[in-house]
Amino acid sequence: MSRCLRRAPAAVFDYAPAQGHLALRRLIAQRYAQVGVPVSPEEIVITAGAMEAINLALRVTTSPGDVVLVETPTYHGILQTVAALHLKVLEIPNLPGRGIDVARLDHLLEQNAVRAAVLVPNFNNPLGSLTSDADKQTLVSSCARHGVIIIEDDIYGELAWSGQRPSLLRRWDTRGIVISCGSFSKMLAPGLRLGWLAGSLWTDALVRAKFFSTMGGTSLTQLAMSDYLQRHDLERHLRRLRRTLADNGQRLLEAIARYWPVDTRVCEPQGGMSLWAQLTESGDSRTLFKAALAKGIRISPGVLFSSRGDYVDYVRLSCGLVWDVRLDRAMKELGTLVARLGGSKVKAP
Ligand SMILES: Cc1ncc(COP(=O)(O)O)c(C=O)c1O
Repeated sequence: MSRCLRRAPAAVFDYAPAQGHLALRRLIAQRYAQVGVPVSPEEIVITAGAMEAINLALRVTTSPGDVVLVETPTYHGILQTVAALHLKVLEIPNLPGRGIDVARLDHLLEQNAVRAAVLVPNFNNPLGSLTSDADKQTLVSSCARHGVIIIEDDIYGELAWSGQRPSLLRRWDTRGIVISCGSFSKMLAPGLRLGWLAGSLWTDALVRAKFFSTMGGTSLTQLAMSDYLQRHDLERHLRRLRRTLADNGQRLLEAIARYWPVDTRVCEPQGGMSLWAQLTESGDSRTLFKAALAKGIRISPGVLFSSRGDYVDYVRLSCGLVWDVRLDRAMKELGTLVARLGGSKVKAP
């Protein structure tokens, strides 16, 4: 950022183009090419994170009252955006270790007039599950058959704990029905508020929507990100980040096994940044949330990840914090609180 301010102050302080700076759009298009998905820089629109990308995509492709397909459980930001735009929700299960339950998809789409789907096939938040290539292919062809537009949220695509970057739904899109959304939030820094869309057939409408909404993004962060991507080895950083997240996840799993009641069930994530655990019978994670917060520990109660108030007995933990003694202590403390909720005994150390 300092270098950009020194070298190009006029560009930094001027409006960014509504679509975003071309240098950054080119670099993002190159990253798509590296995973075998040809996307032109002309199709990329820079946004304030994936959240704005999803919001713009929904605003451009849907009208109030339309039905939108989402996974259950899914990221609360998606549910809140869908609700704020007065769209109706139709849920399709996302299964631990398996991803989106495509077996039910055709039936769901035959029974309901669905306009769009907002899906996180790569390491869904909160499960960390991965939808297979075969299921992704089925999903795209089924949506194409039923005229459903797919808004693909690939924010965790680079965070496979195995190190193997999974493919995008967009790879199987032959009709231009998939709008892909990405972000630097989980790869680098959420505070930069830098995300993007690969807008497919809706690119012009998306650029107009971005213009009406904010005129464009922030020049400084876009120029600094372009500079960073050109001067630094993002792949090296990502390799380290994936290892750290996998290691954090493993330590969280071990801490749950050590400190939480024996009947706690945990989904083993394949990537991303979250861990989804089911509390002992009758455990209400909203009560746990309040008790944990009082001790300075932040967790997400499961109900946030459902539009229907499901998952009361689930909790989402973040694997994004670097492991240290404080975290170990917090996990132990949480274990005691969980045990109190359900009346079970904490494991002996
Ligand atoms: C699935 C998913 N999509 C979108 C977002 C928001 O991303 P951004 O910070 O890029 O707006 C998050 C943040 O946690 C997320 O988990």
